[in-house]
Amino acid sequence: MRQTLKVQISENKEYLIEISDSGFIKLNQDIYEFTKGQKRLVVMSKNVYKLYCEDLNFSDEEIFILPDGEKEKNYTNYLKIIQKAQELGLTRKDVIIAVGGGVVGDIAGFAASTYMRGIDFIQIPTTLLSAVDSSVGGKTAIDYNGVKNIIGSFYQPKKVFININFLNTLDKKQYMSGLGEVLKYALIENSCGHKTPLFLFEFLTLGCEKILKKEPLNLIRMIEYCLNLKIAVVSKDEKESGLRKILNLGHTLGHALESYTKFSKYTHGEAVIYGIFFILDWAYNNEYITNSYYRLSLDLLDKYGFKRLKKMPAPEKIIQFLKKDKKNTNNQVTFIVPCGKKEVQEKLFSVSELISALS
Ligand code: GLY
Repeated sequence: MRQTLKVQISENKEYLIEISDSGFIKLNQDIYEFTKGQKRLVVMSKNVYKLYCEDLNFSDEEIFILPDGEKEKNYTNYLKIIQKAQELGLTRKDVIIAVGGGVVGDIAGFAASTYMRGIDFIQIPTTLLSAVDSSVGGKTAIDYNGVKNIIGSFYQPKKVFININFLNTLDKKQYMSGLGEVLKYALIENSCGHKTPLFLFEFLTLGCEKILKKEPLNLIRMIEYCLNLKIAVVSKDEKESGLRKILNLGHTLGHALESYTKFSKYTHGEAVIYGIFFILDWAYNNEYITNSYYRLSLDLLDKYGFKRLKKMPAPEKIIQFLKKDKKNTNNQVTFIVPCGKKEVQEKLFSVSELISALS
């Protein structure tokens, strides 16, 4: 099965996303066809290299192996990728390909966006998180000085190949991390401006068992729904000046928790889920959402086995990380808050409001 989605950012900025369960032979053919005549630099995570270097048709010379983990999304590795591009003699006509999760996609995309002022970039996400979120929409970045994604650019890929066979080797923790982002989409669907209802919330509720078992057709459908929502958002607001902020439901607190624990305690999706619990509770307590929608949302999180953070760090510890987020000003912190069934809106919290919400 193969689904093709089109991302249309502007009249002359568009690209296709292929979601498929085809074997790797077909994937190799597709990549070969798409990059014919180009020199390629393939940035691949160490783990993906170990698992898939035999299945994928790249030569060792064109591969840059990035060690795994958020801490590798740094300036030093960025420069190493640029150096490799120089060594391979990549010109403006050539291409950088990211094969891996969000870390690989972000750093390789940033390298592609800056090398010679920008060369072609292809995303091949190998995790659920990168398939449903980071590989689409053009956010690229590296971390610096303890702040996630503080150096980066908006740079759209030329193509995204999503092959769900990669998900077979994803461990439970990483798979659940991706599902954290998937559940986020269910809670924002009606604010995304998609032309027709997709009923992702209902699909996730009914299909839970099959999705947890990674049943291929359900996986493809689920990724397709999430990306359709993301496309609806980013095609209206590529650079996050307005609507795109809604994709950050759960992320304000989530990012702060990740930074506070030095990116070593929680997966991204897990941190986002803690952020979602926090803001759902806040929205219910402040009468932004009804009791019945609050219960339905908690039931959905529960169905997938997600639980609240057992012990929230003290507000004074977490607040400095909330303020550091690049989306915030010194005295106010932006949260995306549920405000109706599958609807969200932006709300600025003052420091005192935050302290009381976190307490
Ligand atoms: N991950 C949120 C976005 O792409 O805007």
